[in-house]
Amino acid sequence: MNKTLSGKVALITGGSRGLGAATAAALADQGADVAISYVASAEKAAAVIGSLKAKGVRAVAIQADQGDPAASGPLIQKVVETFGKLDILVNNAAVAWQGKTIDDPEIDNTAMDRQWMINTMGVIANIRAAAKVLPDGGRIISVGSGLGTRVAFPGTTDYAASKAAIVSYSKGAARDLGRRNITVNVVQAGMMDTDMAAGSKGKLPPIIMESHAIHRFAERDEVAAAIVFLAGPHAGFITGSVIDVNGGFTA
Ligand SMILES: NC(=O)c1ccc[n+]([C@@H]2O[C@H](COP(=O)([O-])OP(=O)(O)OC[C@H]3O[C@@H](n4cnc5c(N)ncnc54)[C@H](OP(=O)(O)O)[C@@H]3O)[C@@H](O)[C@H]2O)c1
Repeated sequence: MNKTLSGKVALITGGSRGLGAATAAALADQGADVAISYVASAEKAAAVIGSLKAKGVRAVAIQADQGDPAASGPLIQKVVETFGKLDILVNNAAVAWQGKTIDDPEIDNTAMDRQWMINTMGVIANIRAAAKVLPDGGRIISVGSGLGTRVAFPGTTDYAASKAAIVSYSKGAARDLGRRNITVNVVQAGMMDTDMAAGSKGKLPPIIMESHAIHRFAERDEVAAAIVFLAGPHAGFITGSVIDVNGGFTA
């Protein structure tokens, strides 16, 4: 079978579990060597590396806190030192600290600020660092959320805005890097049954699922497939775009 990413090196942030682990597997299935980052789950990251190597690709896990923009340069550098280059950056790592309105006296604004650092400033730092080493034709894909387009319920202001910001940044980066044929896109995922949405499946107020055209959660593989497509050879003219894989939540 032809593998679309043979010879490519990908970094996926937050690859220790959830969508990141599924995307790492999907990239490896297409022949890419894969680096993953994580912040705390060393054992889970090691298990992911084992399953990637079992697919016949090279794989490495690197601990790096995306909430610290100074960690981005060393993270990218470590990938280049390990594999000799970086072709594909997937910004997947994020947190979703939601549930309280901005006027709630109990809201933890220190946590909200850290969420911005992880979800937005860390992503920006990764893009800046990757832009220095990506070759002509390199790929940058960031995982957003349908909430970045449509803030459909209260209690999610900071998370939603942290995701919206990476859309504009990606559009600008697409303009800046287009002369090098580097594409920069965002995949806005729908709700998935991962740790981030732990316990939500089947328990959300009906209005939330009814606000989707297709009334179900996304499968991780459905979102990973869009990322792999954008990383692949048939997507070289797609840039500055947002692909929604969220069952019509933003329709
Ligand atoms: N799940 C959903 O319903 C949903 C919906 C829309 C969009 N999304 C987006 O999809 C992406 C993946 O989400 P998920 O559901 O797979 O999340 P998840 O299961 O909670 O996994 C989060 C991943 O990010 C890593 N991470 C968290 N904080 C980090 C930090 N400070 N530095 C480095 N890595 C960090 C975690 O590493 P550790 O294991 O080391 O903690 C883990 O690998 C995110 O961008 C999220 O916003 C998710």
